[in-house]
Amino acid sequence: MTIVTFVHPDGREQRIAADAGESAMQAATRNDINGILAECGGNAMCATCHVYVDAAWLARLPAMGGDEDALLDGTAAERRAESRLSCQIKLSAGLDGLILHLPERQT
Ligand code: FES
Repeated sequence: MTIVTFVHPDGREQRIAADAGESAMQAATRNDINGILAECGGNAMCATCHVYVDAAWLARLPAMGGDEDALLDGTAAERRAESRLSCQIKLSAGLDGLILHLPERQT
């Protein structure tokens, strides 16, 4: 089990338990985290699962692919250095404790 904390723009935190092999987006939607829309269902086509990875965790994630990089140029909220698509973050034991900040908007 991997524990992930989502931090809302107002500072409110929600901590969820993710199943092995789930993406951060899947864990968020399964746990009714508001702020992750995931309109394309995790197919890297919509960019409505945008998150800001906490600085302490950024270097521990695998590098993003070209598709993710391109989609991040079209996010509703500003793209930052710590921007990722949560559907492309596969959760594992090594990411236990991951902190993801939610943007102000996804559309
Ligand atoms: S859910 Fe659509 S890009 Fe992640």
